[in-house]
Amino acid sequence: MKLKTVHTLVLAALALGASASARDLATIKKSGTLVVATEPTYPPFTYTQGKNIVGFEAELAELLAKQLGVKVQWKTSSFDTLLIGLGQGRYDMVIASHGITPERQKAVDFANPHYCSGGVVLSKTGGPKTVADLKGKKVAVQLGTTYATRARSLPGLGGIQTYPNNTDALQALMAGRTEAFITDRFVALEARKKTGGKVQVGQLIFQEKIGIALQKGNKTLVTGINEALKKVQSDGSYKKLSEKYFGEDIRCK
Ligand code: ARG
Repeated sequence: MKLKTVHTLVLAALALGASASARDLATIKKSGTLVVATEPTYPPFTYTQGKNIVGFEAELAELLAKQLGVKVQWKTSSFDTLLIGLGQGRYDMVIASHGITPERQKAVDFANPHYCSGGVVLSKTGGPKTVADLKGKKVAVQLGTTYATRARSLPGLGGIQTYPNNTDALQALMAGRTEAFITDRFVALEARKKTGGKVQVGQLIFQEKIGIALQKGNKTLVTGINEALKKVQSDGSYKKLSEKYFGEDIRCK
């Protein structure tokens, strides 16, 4: 069976309710901790610094938890298994730059988007920049992402290489094992900065709204997170955090 098919089946199974029940907001508040999962190979959104998980989304999760009066307890997992673990009740929420898609919405609930971005063509300087340039070229994507789905719909690619995480895909690009990498615009801009301009950020292929995933039907937590997000987006703390990482406010306009 193709990986894509397996992924779809798993999400479908979750949508049918094959899941352990989630902790509601009252239970979380009483316990004093919000259990949050991510995949920390995705700078500047989530990455590790020593033993700590840092980045824009890591700090945003901490801001939201503070609004709820609880502490964050971090869990990590590979990107393609995060929503499955959520359905199994392994953690309360997932913050890992998930694009809000109708397919994912069958399996999980999303909070209101916490930023807007899109998929771009990233390549070594001088390499392919547009979708048209990708004809006949080997293209890397991360497993389970909206970029992987989109890459499959692009005609004439010279092959799609699927990597388990962002770090591996980026390394493949730098080593010349792949000619382009479709990834998030801000992740691509960060890679350009980190490599001292050895890579270039090309065409924006599509746009997406990014949201925190919560277990399907966990209404009190969805409401709690939405209220916390609204608060940090109006009291200046979101803006400050966004400017720290991106030099701009990346909320959806
Ligand atoms: N935005 C893309 C998606 O929704 C990619 C997210 C990848 N996130 C990560 N932590 N590696 O699929």
